[in-house]
Amino acid sequence: MITKEMTLADVVKEHPNTIGFLNGLHLDYCCGGHDPIARAIAEKGMDVDRFLADLNRVAARPSAQRDAHADIESFKELSVNEMLDDLEATHHVTDRKLMAEAEQLLNKILVVHYPHHGEMLTKLHHLYAGLKAELEEHFAKEERLVFPLMREHVHPDKATIDYVDTLINEHTNAGDIIKEIQDLTGNFTPPADACPTFQHTYKVLEELFDDIFIHIFKENSIAFPEYAEQE
Ligand SMILES: [Fe+2]
Ligand SMILES: [Fe+2]
Repeated sequence: MITKEMTLADVVKEHPNTIGFLNGLHLDYCCGGHDPIARAIAEKGMDVDRFLADLNRVAARPSAQRDAHADIESFKELSVNEMLDDLEATHHVTDRKLMAEAEQLLNKILVVHYPHHGEMLTKLHHLYAGLKAELEEHFAKEERLVFPLMREHVHPDKATIDYVDTLINEHTNAGDIIKEIQDLTGNFTPPADACPTFQHTYKVLEELFDDIFIHIFKENSIAFPEYAEQE
């Protein structure tokens, strides 16, 4: 039974089959998902009791997104080192590929649709460029600095834990930019005159952000706490 005192991160950890439902409502279960449900949902202007009833119903159902569900269940079973290897081999590869694709598409629709949507697309292009730069630097930091330190210091030391905390802060910053992009695009609703490339760009962005949310959730709520407990 999910209660309003739980956080959305707790919910996804216990019921990974709720990810699709939460993504559909654009609720943050990863980067800033550590407020109790009562507060997080009220802040969104939604009815808390109704949300809880829906969420409990979804949690009790077999997963529609079986992949994400099975993926998180099996991730939880890994050792910390295996988790780090897995993150690098899966999400880091997928997100880099989707980021490159989205960058090309955004540049294309910026030029084509400038006459009618120049102001919005300039903002979107700019926000995305900043997000991409931050994430590329973040992935490099994880792969070349912090994950190697975590593998080396099996029992966490203060310096490594401090580095892990900087990663968590960077996740929050990335989540904030993604929220700005969701607001700017009306949660990826293309304008009426959008061409197929415009629509495809929004699809790729949504796919990228869904993957980033699962990626950050696995780090913030599974891998990093598991590491901190290896005393
Ligand atoms: Fe990562
Ligand atoms: Fe990360």
